[in-house]
Amino acid sequence: MDALIQAALQARRHAHAPFSKFQVGAAIEDASGGIHTGCNVENATYGLTICAERVAVFKAISEGARKFTRVAVAADTDVLTPPCGACRQILWEFCGDVEVTMVNPRGKSETLRLKDLLPRPFDASFL
Ligand code: THU
Repeated sequence: MDALIQAALQARRHAHAPFSKFQVGAAIEDASGGIHTGCNVENATYGLTICAERVAVFKAISEGARKFTRVAVAADTDVLTPPCGACRQILWEFCGDVEVTMVNPRGKSETLRLKDLLPRPFDASFL
């Protein structure tokens, strides 16, 4: 199995989701081939919860990575789980039009480009 997908599935096992019980893992590949992972981390206030994708992006940025080539998102759903709207915006700002692979633990997967998930994005080019 593709290492990025494997990393997203593995990261999902670390999800801290006591409130929703919905566990998500994410993995992001940088331009040097490095893989950065994240899982969702929930909070009792609910609103402070952070999604797996944003954890992965922010971890990668904080480790000095800047260019990204691919993203994988893992959740245990038959209809594959796409990144939420907030994560699409963050992914666009840091990764541009990357490939996003959605996967479940039974080996189902689908790859889309971020531009198809977030058409006509707002970004710093408008400022
Ligand atoms: N979640 C993610 O981690 N990524 C997504 O793209 C969708 C939602 C998390 C947030 C929350 O912990 C749980 O899934 C239910 O919304």
